[in-house]
Amino acid sequence: MSDDANPRASAALAVQRVVHRGWQLPSTLERMLDGQSAENRRLINEMASGTVRWYWLLEHLLSTLLERPLRRKDQDLQCLLYVGLYQLEFMHKPQYATVSETVDATGALGKFWARGLVNAVLRKFLRIRAELDFEKFSDVCRFSHPGWMIKAIKRDWPECWQSILAANNQKPGMTLRVNINRTSVEEYLHVLQNAGIDANADTASPVAVKLCERTSVDRLPGFHEGIVSVQSTASQLAALSLDLAPGQRVLDACSAPGGKLLHIQEIAPELDEVVAVDIDKARAGQIVDNLTRAGQSATLVVADASDPDDWWDGRRFDRILIDAPCSALGVVSKHPDIKHHRKPADIDRVEEVQGKLLNALLPLLNRNGKLLYTTCSILARENDSQIGKLLHDHSEFTCEHLPSAIGQPTKYGRQRLQGKAGSDGFYYASITRR
Ligand SMILES: C[S@@+](CC[C@H](N)C(=O)[O-])C[C@H]1O[C@@H](n2cnc3c(N)ncnc32)[C@H](O)[C@@H]1O
Repeated sequence: MSDDANPRASAALAVQRVVHRGWQLPSTLERMLDGQSAENRRLINEMASGTVRWYWLLEHLLSTLLERPLRRKDQDLQCLLYVGLYQLEFMHKPQYATVSETVDATGALGKFWARGLVNAVLRKFLRIRAELDFEKFSDVCRFSHPGWMIKAIKRDWPECWQSILAANNQKPGMTLRVNINRTSVEEYLHVLQNAGIDANADTASPVAVKLCERTSVDRLPGFHEGIVSVQSTASQLAALSLDLAPGQRVLDACSAPGGKLLHIQEIAPELDEVVAVDIDKARAGQIVDNLTRAGQSATLVVADASDPDDWWDGRRFDRILIDAPCSALGVVSKHPDIKHHRKPADIDRVEEVQGKLLNALLPLLNRNGKLLYTTCSILARENDSQIGKLLHDHSEFTCEHLPSAIGQPTKYGRQRLQGKAGSDGFYYASITRR
């Protein structure tokens, strides 16, 4: 079928590609949404993202509704049924219209024979829904996360694991960082209001504006001129914690796509030099695009930051930011496909890279300099455990206090946990050389 023929069939195919073929959700959606009307784009986005997010619950529901499992070659149909169940459970649309539109989507999949089946399954769900008590479902089904992930989060956050999982299932918010060299938060809120976009300031960051609804960056006044960037409040708190001042030499060690790099230069336009390193050439290209949009420049290096012999000129840095590659378990609400793609072995792998980066870059710090280590993870082994090991091995370094507004205290740093409004989980630790 042509992918743009029917929004429900497009959403089903997007789910199939993400869940069964390992595609990334954003690039899958980009392909599916190309050429669709604005209304269809919104619909496909919501149905595909929501079905990927609630997959484990929907899988359980479907298994109780079907008399026998579908054949492997009908995986697309199975995904259409998940999309149908997602709409009925979460989208608050007229129920019988939803059933009939989902039945019609079988044609777009080339499976007219399945009209009766789809109709029967969705109608059966409507009949029995009132009898289903989701609270009695297993944790995997009711929180819709893989079992290993629930276990890891439960182990580190025994008191609030349920609220973390619930927050992961929220639709994500959208936050902007206002370039206060060009305008003010107050002025930009006014500009947004005139453009018909509802938004509020966010007290956690002095440069944050939270949109009431997600929107395309093309609709944001001044985005292409660098007046605002899309960046979560949690990410904004990284550059704000670096204690930047004119004349400093700064290393942004894991820089792409350059969100924090731009912010660093907005806060302190008169730095001596900012060296931006990233190992991934394609992602480093995004740094260039972002620098160009913001009218900024930096010394850009494509290299493995944990191998300074390969790229370092021997001059130490006053500030180092390691925004390390991580499991990203703090940003699941924004990237629900993480629940499908992340595996336990990935955590072992990033843990090793994080340790290497910290050990290799700490010696590049000037006396009285600061190294800020951040991750968008909520797992102790990627966060406090890394810092604990580092301080144990390097006695001339100590941990610094970070302001309480950043997040709750941990042994060495601060942790923000994902919140109800789809906000991100993030870890911060600041280390100084005596
Ligand atoms: C969390 S992202 C950084 C986000 C970025 N700081 C920002 O604010 O836009 C982690 C980055 O680390 C990079 N990376 C992973 N291993 C690296 C290494 N050994 N050396 C340098 N960069 C690395 C990845 O390519 C990725 O772009």
